[in-house]
Amino acid sequence: MSLFDQVPTVPLDGTFALMEACRVDAHELKVNLTPGIYRDENAKTWVLPSVKQARAALLADQSLNHDISPQLGYPQLLSAARQLVFKDTLDGRFITSMQTISGTGANHFIASLLSSHLRPRTVWVPNPTWDNHREIWRHVDPGIEQRNYPYYDHETCGIDGDALLSTLKEQANTGDAIILHACAHNPTGVDPSPELWEGIAQMCEEKGIFPIFDLAYQGFATGDADNDASAVRHFTTRSSSGNSSTLEFAVAQSFSKNFGLYSERVGALHVVARTRDGAARVEGMLKRISRAEITSTPAFGARIVAAVLHDPVLKAQWRQDLRTMNGRLGDMRKRLYDGLTRRNTPGSWGHILTDIGMFSMTGLSPEKVAVLKDRFHVYLLPNGRLSVTGLTEGNVEYVAESIYQVVKH
Ligand SMILES: Cc1ncc(COP(=O)(O)O)c(C=O)c1O
Repeated sequence: MSLFDQVPTVPLDGTFALMEACRVDAHELKVNLTPGIYRDENAKTWVLPSVKQARAALLADQSLNHDISPQLGYPQLLSAARQLVFKDTLDGRFITSMQTISGTGANHFIASLLSSHLRPRTVWVPNPTWDNHREIWRHVDPGIEQRNYPYYDHETCGIDGDALLSTLKEQANTGDAIILHACAHNPTGVDPSPELWEGIAQMCEEKGIFPIFDLAYQGFATGDADNDASAVRHFTTRSSSGNSSTLEFAVAQSFSKNFGLYSERVGALHVVARTRDGAARVEGMLKRISRAEITSTPAFGARIVAAVLHDPVLKAQWRQDLRTMNGRLGDMRKRLYDGLTRRNTPGSWGHILTDIGMFSMTGLSPEKVAVLKDRFHVYLLPNGRLSVTGLTEGNVEYVAESIYQVVKH
């Protein structure tokens, strides 16, 4: 008998469970297409050359100590992180930036801040979305209702913009929050057009809905970090009816993917306010939340990101590293598409070429995904999401053949 006998049994997290199942799968042809982790052509987690250089310099620095960071985080990280998101678009705005435990921590902190102070009745999440959005909000405040807004249209393999806007216009309430993937949407690989972003901004402004940008893949949509910040920057620079936009919003930024620093947990939360007083209050409250939850942020990964972004030579190398990753993903998309269409695989596959970022939806049902795993040892998420990062020249034909075998019946 234990006090904990009454604790509900929680099923394993789907993504981690699949990664573990794949790890222990002894089949020589197994292919892991589940995680959003960039792998190189040998299916190994890539250490970016820019990161390697910055890391070597840090490790060689005998004066480096392990003093605690200031409460908002490592200052050089925060200035670089903010510049990477907003560049010079913040005229007349006030922003609070705080280092977080990667993108997950940034999502968590903004959920905590809103839950205790803006008290949204509902948080709107795209259908589909990163599974952890729901977990984070449920964990922070089960009293906040979670609702889906329409996003992916399985017929067109694109976004149903009309349904998205009309649902929110008709059903969202003032004070609600909405999660928006800033670029390279996970899991679908499709992003709103500039016109749709403006429609979303207008709708948020008119209805008084608080936008939260989740920026986990900056650099993976187009290969260029500035282009990939365009939706966020639009929210700061747009004007409505000749006046500057009144929107206040947050950005949850992750450096896991675009620096390959998955285990270092580097991220930042930026909250854009319209008054200096509002920003100061946000800062105070974020410090309080951070003190209670983590006291201070880890510095090693933050120092690496800051070193790269503050050094013009390393930054140029990093931009090249982004292009290298995107180039390989584009090549794998083409090879998978060719492999599927050469076999006349039933289904529509053109979107594999036009989707962006790490992911594409295959349209495979959970049953077919299970067959793919059990018979062919090819691992996808149950919703049919394929992570292009796990494809290599050595396995892409096998994956195409396996998908063909599973869907041909
Ligand atoms: C959409 C999205 N947001 C946030 C994250 C957070 O990742 P991390 O906490 O590693 O930065 C992920 C990771 O997969 C993601 O896909």
